[in-house]
Amino acid sequence: MRQAGRYMKEYRALRAKHSFLTLCKNTDLAAEITVHAAHTLGVDAAIIFADILLIVEPLGFKLEYSKGEGPVICGKLRDAKDVARLREVNPEESLGYVLAAIRKTRASLKPNIPLIGFCGAPFTVAAYILEGGSSRNFIATKTFMYRQPRAWHSLMKKISRASANYLAAQIAAGAQAVQIFDSWVGCLSPRDYETFVQPHNKSLIASIRSYERKQVENLPNPLAYARSYNTPIIYFGTDTATLLPLIRDTGADVIGVDWRIRLGDAWKTIGYDRAIQGNLDPLVLFADRKLIRQRAKKILQQAAGRRGHIFNLGHGILPKTPVDNVRALVDAVHQFGGK
Ligand code: CP3
Repeated sequence: MRQAGRYMKEYRALRAKHSFLTLCKNTDLAAEITVHAAHTLGVDAAIIFADILLIVEPLGFKLEYSKGEGPVICGKLRDAKDVARLREVNPEESLGYVLAAIRKTRASLKPNIPLIGFCGAPFTVAAYILEGGSSRNFIATKTFMYRQPRAWHSLMKKISRASANYLAAQIAAGAQAVQIFDSWVGCLSPRDYETFVQPHNKSLIASIRSYERKQVENLPNPLAYARSYNTPIIYFGTDTATLLPLIRDTGADVIGVDWRIRLGDAWKTIGYDRAIQGNLDPLVLFADRKLIRQRAKKILQQAAGRRGHIFNLGHGILPKTPVDNVRALVDAVHQFGGK
């Protein structure tokens, strides 16, 4: 998560010359940033340099990343009529630059490092659009959800369909796992998650599976079956301790958790037939090496040597994080995790 983002000096040097959106839309630079981050940190997988909000442009909104304020999204979305006007997203046409970056990255990344594609979950993308950017209490989102439930569901359907096509296209371009970021979903009660969000995550995940099945039917070579049918789908949210049983039922293969819950407790709730990803507090990377190593070890102890734990941070790396500490963390995980 945020492998390249802002804390690496090579990235900041590129950012001094280009806007964030320019970097995302430039195939060569996006691929270079992805590969450089993964190789420098020594991590076991790379995540494509892009953003969960890129999809709002083809949906019909204006997207900017302003200094200090974070992302700003402009465009009208007030009622069912506005939802009906949202454009269908054809990822090859409007997000082709991400697909090109995936192809290019896959070609230059070490062959043993899998490449992860990603998108925002329908709830988090809808919330960004309705709030126009980041938010503290999601007034606009929840007002829309409670007062116009039909329009809400049709908005979620549209985003879910666009995201399924987008992830399917990323898989076709070479992504070997895909991650759905539901960064803001922890603001919901279990009841609201179940009513307003879970069905759309289920159908997003089911659509990716059905896309893969169709691909397999068209394959001349049955050996390609395993690779193309089973792309792992990771679902990540923050503050989801009370939502985990509902998240399990979305059908995701891997569930990402933040640091507000013990990894062992989360896994028990999710069930050992699913994989888990997490869950070091990214702020631990501001501590000294000894503490970083201790905390990494504790998380691995919680995983208790079971198969299916992906060590990760519980959320994105923050600017100003010391890169050497990230490397020390990677070494510690490899040491204690037996790699
Ligand atoms: O290489 C990488 O960093 C991985 C690619 C990646 C980015 N964003 C690049 C990025 C990924 C996986 C994301 C996911 C993302 N984007 C999420 C989900 C994860 C999370 O943090 O919850 C969300 C919510 C976003 C939306 C977003 N994009 C925000 C809120 C911001 C501003 C962050 C801030 O601190 O101001 C961004 C910008 C962004 N996305 C940057 C990067 C590297 C920083 C852009 C810059 O250079 O100024």
